[in-house]
Amino acid sequence: MPDIKPCDLTDSDTAGDLARAELRDRAGSPVGTDEAPDGHAAITDGVYICDSATLSDGGKGVRTNVRYLGREASIFFVRFDEKVYGYLNQCAHVPMELDWNEGQFFDDSGLYLICATHGAIYAPESGHCVGGPCRGAKLRAVQVEERETPSGRAVYWLPDDAVRPVAAV
Ligand code: FES
Repeated sequence: MPDIKPCDLTDSDTAGDLARAELRDRAGSPVGTDEAPDGHAAITDGVYICDSATLSDGGKGVRTNVRYLGREASIFFVRFDEKVYGYLNQCAHVPMELDWNEGQFFDDSGLYLICATHGAIYAPESGHCVGGPCRGAKLRAVQVEERETPSGRAVYWLPDDAVRPVAAV
């Protein structure tokens, strides 16, 4: 099973643990393979990330480990203004992950993505740096879409040539 982080659920009860285990199994599995869980197995052109309800507007994001140009990296997904966006988790200033606290990508206002290292802020809908040391640069976007599935609405990542699932490399 690939070493990919699932949706970040905070429940601490047994049901929450079971849900996390199930999502851990789903996350990073290229859908359409035998490893994909029921309800998501029929989709062949994306990677299940999490159920849509996991991402709240301006709230905590979901990270997943990937290979970026052959190196270990992570990508993340957030919801803003009802839409889901995905980016390589790498600041445009220095190639460091944005979140010190895992999954914490928005600033206090919930309007901007923020890098925890030097405070660069990014427009969540475009990835453009709008303040801080890398103004004018932008985050590297990854393709994402929400789909209706037999198990409910879910977020899927569409890998590209440079950002690949860990299991596919
Ligand atoms: S590393 Fe992100 S602002 Fe410097």
